[in-house]
Amino acid sequence: MLPLICPLLFVTRLMITASASDHTTNFVFNGFASANLLLDGMATVTSTGLLQLTEPTDQDMGHAFYPYPLPFKNASSAAALSFSTSFVFAIVPRYPDLTGHGIAFVLSASSDLTPALPSQYIGLFNKSDQGKLSNHLIAVEFDTNYSPEFDDINNNHVGIDVNSLRSVYSASASYFSDGVGTQNLTLASGNLFQAWVEYDQFECLLNVTLAPLELKKPSVPLLSSFVNLSSFITDYMHIGFSSAVGSFPASHYLFGWSFALNGRDVAIDISLLPRLPIIITTPKSKLLIKYGLPAIGGAMLVVAGFATCAFILIRKKIKFAELLEDWEQEHGPQRFSYKDLYIATKGFGEKEFLGAGGFGRVYKGVLPRTKTHVAVKKISHETRHGMRQFVAEIISIGHLRHQNLVQLLGYCRRKGELLLVYDFMPNGSLDRFLFDKPESMLDWKQRLHIIKGVASGLFHLHEEWDQVVIHRDIKASNVLLDSQMNGRLGDFGLSRLYDHGSDPQTTHVVGTLGYLAPELTRTGKATTSTDVYAFGGFLLEMACGRGPVETKALPEKMILVDWVHENWRKGSILDIRDPNLEEFSAVEMELVLKLGLLCSHPKPSCRPRMRLVMQVLDGDAALPEELLADWNESFAVGNDGFADLINLVESAFSKSVVSLTESTGKKTER
Ligand SMILES: *[C@@H]1O[C@H](CO)[C@@H](O)[C@H](O)[C@H]1NC(C)=O
Ligand SMILES: *[C@@H]1O[C@H](CO)[C@@H](O)[C@H](O)[C@H]1NC(C)=O
Ligand SMILES: *[C@@H]1O[C@H](CO)[C@@H](O)[C@H](O)[C@H]1NC(C)=O
Repeated sequence: MLPLICPLLFVTRLMITASASDHTTNFVFNGFASANLLLDGMATVTSTGLLQLTEPTDQDMGHAFYPYPLPFKNASSAAALSFSTSFVFAIVPRYPDLTGHGIAFVLSASSDLTPALPSQYIGLFNKSDQGKLSNHLIAVEFDTNYSPEFDDINNNHVGIDVNSLRSVYSASASYFSDGVGTQNLTLASGNLFQAWVEYDQFECLLNVTLAPLELKKPSVPLLSSFVNLSSFITDYMHIGFSSAVGSFPASHYLFGWSFALNGRDVAIDISLLPRLPIIITTPKSKLLIKYGLPAIGGAMLVVAGFATCAFILIRKKIKFAELLEDWEQEHGPQRFSYKDLYIATKGFGEKEFLGAGGFGRVYKGVLPRTKTHVAVKKISHETRHGMRQFVAEIISIGHLRHQNLVQLLGYCRRKGELLLVYDFMPNGSLDRFLFDKPESMLDWKQRLHIIKGVASGLFHLHEEWDQVVIHRDIKASNVLLDSQMNGRLGDFGLSRLYDHGSDPQTTHVVGTLGYLAPELTRTGKATTSTDVYAFGGFLLEMACGRGPVETKALPEKMILVDWVHENWRKGSILDIRDPNLEEFSAVEMELVLKLGLLCSHPKPSCRPRMRLVMQVLDGDAALPEELLADWNESFAVGNDGFADLINLVESAFSKSVVSLTESTGKKTER
């Protein structure tokens, strides 16, 4: 096996100017490997020198303090001394939008904050001491949660706290950029930020400045507030950090910290911070030393031989190079080596190619050790931004086990490439059995079985797991068939890839034309209800044996859902069933068509939830057919269909569509 990490590299990279002896009041830690901090709770320093204050778990906290209290008062005047500090941090929630409670820089008379509470108390106070002068605690909070009880302004703010979580000053997280103005930023994004906290003893001004790591210190602070620290501190104060999580797991990291009492702190050297990806390739130089040098003394022939050998080895290492970062340790079991996947898929050969989907190319393979049959999806992805959250999320979703979901087994990362490994589905995707004169046609019984399976899989994603998973791209080609011809939903969670690493302010509509709920193209917000809409399209597809949009069809037939609705209105709904189906139950067919219509209702409020869908399919609940009469808002009826379709596409594109593939039953996926 290749050496995974090179710890030496990090030890030598560490630089500490402080000897941390008697009266050292200035220091800089570019990484914390030998910082000797006082840690409690979840706080740990990783082998690479990263200070991790919280782990991705819930209801817990962590503290890290400089080992010695510092003399914060001017000996003669007893006034608080000036200080300046800067630090680099990142907040990585396990699930985007569901954050922990943030991180705080702390000045405290006591270094023991273990009696404090996690979650909204950020590990600083508890219910009984919150707000008391006797705390002698001043904090700058980077709060990622909205706590109305402490009058928080929002769930993404910076605040100055004096003995209380009710901040004396706060501002929404942002930074000032010369010539551009104020720029918002999202603290809990997994991105690295640098913060500066400065206090001036004469003006009693406390300044807090924030910026993305790659930028230099903004000229205008985010907060510049009058706080007379002299009244709140004791002679000696501890300095450090506190962080807490509540109901949702999140990791809070510090990469570097610089501090100076009564002076200017030294700038953190960003190039030394423990944050670079660790690439699993032995550096060429090492290989040459190992294989090249001993040969120099030998004959030229031997040299040449070794050199060739080294060359081949290097080539091989480069070929199998992958990206592995520190944070991936927690995903250990789900991490596949690129070499194994390369061997499994015979080098991603054309013969193993199964198909190309909206997200990338899919190959079949057999894992070398376990002989498991797998499907490997290769997704090209240039941004490293947000990759960590995405992987965490995909892995977390991969823990979902259900007979109607395609199981994710793990992943691997390379430069610009993410590989996802799934259970292999021997019968491929459902659309192969439905459209374009399939080799073998599914009969009605099989179709109903698949419909019920997919409904059950989607119900599981929406309502049965501990978080709601929105699929966002339900369609026949994303339904795969296992060896027993059970329908299984694939690709769930993948659409989120487009959310990560992109500007959060733009809306991406992800999905497939004909399955996109009308409100989705307006708001861009995927919900369980937009999934139900797409599921409705899938039901109609199964019953009618055609795609939801058929551009070559007569105008009134082009948009399937409107055509079905028109026939429902005229009382001729059975006329539009798949003409190739010879045997079927009229009652079941009618039920599926009407249920499909109801799910595809233009008004989200009229669409059933998946629980009701299951009950209707099982005959345990009646279909609320009366809702079908309320169909006014339909976006495309009859002859206007084509024009409206164009509008739909245009409006979707104007909202920056990333994946909008027309589905008329093309063969895709596995
Ligand atoms: C920045 O965030 C604040 C607070 O959430 C909001 O009021 C403001 O509109 C945002 N500005 C921009 C340019 O998005
Ligand atoms: C704090 O910010 C104000 C306003 O930009 C500035 O005048 C002052 O010098 C700053 N103080 C410190 C200690 O950086
Ligand atoms: C700050 O408080 C100290 C002691 O309470 C006082 O002596 C000093 O004048 C105050 N400074 C300012 C600028 O208000």
